[in-house]
Amino acid sequence: APSDPDLVARARAAKERLGDRVFVLGHHYQRDEVIQFADVTGDSFKLARDAAARPEAEYIVFCGVHFMAESADILTSDSQQVVLPDLAAGCSMADMASAEQVAECWDVLTEAGVADQVVPVSYMNSSADIKAFTGRHGGTICTSSNAQRALEWAFGRSAPGAGKVLFLPDQHLGRNTAVRDMGMSLDDCVVYNPHKPGGGLTAEQLRAARMILWRGHCSVHGRFSLDSVDEVRARIPGVQVLVHPECTHEVVAAADHVGSTERIISILEDAPAGSKWAVGTELNLVRRLANRFADQGKEIVFLDRTVCFCSTMNRIDLPHLVWALESLADGKVVGRIRVDAETEHFAKLALERMLALP
Ligand code: 13P
Ligand code: SF4
Repeated sequence: APSDPDLVARARAAKERLGDRVFVLGHHYQRDEVIQFADVTGDSFKLARDAAARPEAEYIVFCGVHFMAESADILTSDSQQVVLPDLAAGCSMADMASAEQVAECWDVLTEAGVADQVVPVSYMNSSADIKAFTGRHGGTICTSSNAQRALEWAFGRSAPGAGKVLFLPDQHLGRNTAVRDMGMSLDDCVVYNPHKPGGGLTAEQLRAARMILWRGHCSVHGRFSLDSVDEVRARIPGVQVLVHPECTHEVVAAADHVGSTERIISILEDAPAGSKWAVGTELNLVRRLANRFADQGKEIVFLDRTVCFCSTMNRIDLPHLVWALESLADGKVVGRIRVDAETEHFAKLALERMLALP
């Protein structure tokens, strides 16, 4: 639906009143009505870097979800304030690993005698507490665009063949990167279930594993199935299947291309006219790409028509953005995201290790 013209005018006016004092970041999964006001759009990695590169902006308005805004707060200076236009915009995957559960997991690894061989690698899609845990234990953060480099870094820190990675919280990104990109086998991976005593694993299994995958997943990407890949290949001859690495291993294994949101966009930009694509990622982005490339003769469809939007990304809508911008223009900070100093210190260590990856 087209954006409400009155709200568009109000957002524009508030942004003009704020001028350089505000910088608006928009993740690719945001609604069109919101993304039109973003000063920069990107995947999680690009947005983290861009937030850190705007020291002159007093306010960073983050159109995305809670863990992204927390990361921006960690990476920006103390005088800058990060605003999430709806504080209820969380991420169900990030919520699947709590600080208590992860501390308990470390105890399990310690009891099994493997903790000193384990380097934690945590996906950006995690709370600041989990990032701080990662930093405290010598690990790094990764995103879907640098997961392989992060794992290589982590394994490179141990004696050859001795290392293990605890990958949090997305089992699929961890497994897909290890198996598809790095040639490990499915047997090298075990899944730690935080709802079972000892993670549901024996000490022997933990000792044999190379990748200890946290049992978390994305509720949106987890719904693309092998059936949807088979169905689209039958329906559209010559179609190429392009999916996000948060999809399950069987979907990723059946796809032609895999990549972060930024990579998905660049693959489609480079695609020749007449090519056909089925894309398995969040619907706002797929729709925007289908519209953008339609007049270049590229046919882009959604991989599975029964999968819906990321409901928490969609919480940031134009009314919330207008409310945030107008409040800031009136001198009132709403929706502020603030990470406490100790958590920030250790989370920043882990984020900076990611930013320094080759
Ligand atoms: P990227 O934009 O880094 O690919 O991440 C996708 C995602 O699910 C963010 O929530
Ligand atoms: Fe979280 Fe999945 Fe939504 Fe990304 S798409 S914010 S991982 S629930």
